[in-house]
Amino acid sequence: MEEIVVLIVGAGPSGLATSACLSVHSIPHIILEKEDIYASLWKKRAYDRLKLHLAKEFCSLPFKPHSPDSPTYIPKDMFVDYLDDYVKTFNIQPKYQRHVESASYDEADGKWRIEAKNVLTGGVEVYVAEFLVVASGENSGKYIPELPGLDSFSGETLHSSEYKSGAKYENKEVLVVGCGNSGMEIAYDLSNYGVQTAIVIRNPVHVVSKEIVRVGMIFSKYLPIFIVDIMAVLMSKILYGDLSKYGIRRPTKGPFYLKATAGRAPVIDVGTVAKIKSKEIKVVPAISSIDGKKVLFEDGAEREFDVIVFATGYRSVANNWLKDFKHVLNETGMPKNDFPHHWKGEKNLYCCGLSRRGLFGVSMDASAIADDIKKVVTEKLNK
Ligand SMILES: Cc1cc2nc3c(=O)[nH]c(=O)nc-3n(C[C@H](O)[C@H](O)[C@H](O)COP(=O)(O)OP(=O)(O)OC[C@H]3O[C@@H](n4cnc5c(N)ncnc54)[C@H](O)[C@@H]3O)c2cc1C
Ligand SMILES: *[C@@H]1O[C@H](CO)[C@@H](O)[C@H](O)[C@H]1NC(C)=O
Repeated sequence: MEEIVVLIVGAGPSGLATSACLSVHSIPHIILEKEDIYASLWKKRAYDRLKLHLAKEFCSLPFKPHSPDSPTYIPKDMFVDYLDDYVKTFNIQPKYQRHVESASYDEADGKWRIEAKNVLTGGVEVYVAEFLVVASGENSGKYIPELPGLDSFSGETLHSSEYKSGAKYENKEVLVVGCGNSGMEIAYDLSNYGVQTAIVIRNPVHVVSKEIVRVGMIFSKYLPIFIVDIMAVLMSKILYGDLSKYGIRRPTKGPFYLKATAGRAPVIDVGTVAKIKSKEIKVVPAISSIDGKKVLFEDGAEREFDVIVFATGYRSVANNWLKDFKHVLNETGMPKNDFPHHWKGEKNLYCCGLSRRGLFGVSMDASAIADDIKKVVTEKLNK
């Protein structure tokens, strides 16, 4: 059994940032990570052509802005280099291949008891910590919807986190399900490899450019969100025209409003819209059922596919291991308190990176959590 002041679950950007902030305050801590590397999402579960969707000023971790020579939209590999450098600078040493399977609060001694499976030996290790930080990510569980007949599909199915590039699928018929950023970019990537690509667009969605988002994020510091939304929608209409005739409808609420209130990010176009307009990528409505290779759509049409890529998102699965989640999360594994009070729970329990605000949110949470822990520790010492 190991006793420690702070235990962090997960060595993604959230865990790394929290560790750096705690080190600056000289607070002892450890990170447990189930994979054999840090930033496993970025190193193992992201497609090749991924670039950060947001401009670099919104994507840095505490104490380390991106270099002035780096591009505005940083490619995945360059972001991984940045994290490598971050880990070196702050001498972060996560304990790898430790899969946290349970964490509960011991009311009697006022501490957290954490059990982690050592993936290598299969043994269970027990840790006791005064403070517990959930940094296991919003994207830890793949989500695939239940569709009638999906089991009968005779082609290949995969989740967007398993997708690397379209090279494998040349001359195949591929259906992408989901029109968030991943789905739209994967459809574009497939089509670039000459794949016959179709994409299911079921719900209304805002399509914007990177520049519109950047300008909007800067303006939203000074202007009310509804004005920023009017500008963003206007710019998007000028840039893309009316997309409803291509099957892309706009939500009635604005893009920045939806991001702030529901965590629903607008789609940042990487070239997909042009391919939809030129019919290289076909937009199809929701799937009603699947039968062998045949997919039936809600408009009555049917078509055969070799591959289905589910870009249908992720779920937080923190509640699978965090037995006393109620002190900081709700039933869905997301923060129970509203932003900006989401990161702090009761019983010295915190969560980092669960506010659906990307790396910008990660950075805010990590600093706030470390400052709060510092305050509690100092108050206790002075008692
Ligand atoms: C394709 C894609 C593109 C993205 N692009 C951007 C972008 O451009 N800009 C942006 O700001 N954000 C982007 N994001 C959001 C991105 O997820 C976050 O910015 C960032 O990775 C969140 O970091 P995190 O540490 O909170 O979670 P993660 O990166 O998911 O890290 C969580 C870590 O916890 C570990 N873990 C989970 N459960 C356990 C357990 N029980 N025991 C031990 N370890 C565990 C996981 O293995 C993982 O290493 C993107 C996400 C995806 C999927
Ligand atoms: C849980 O919290 C998230 C936000 O943190 C919210 O979007 C979701 O609706 C909540 N779910 C329930 C069941 O309360």
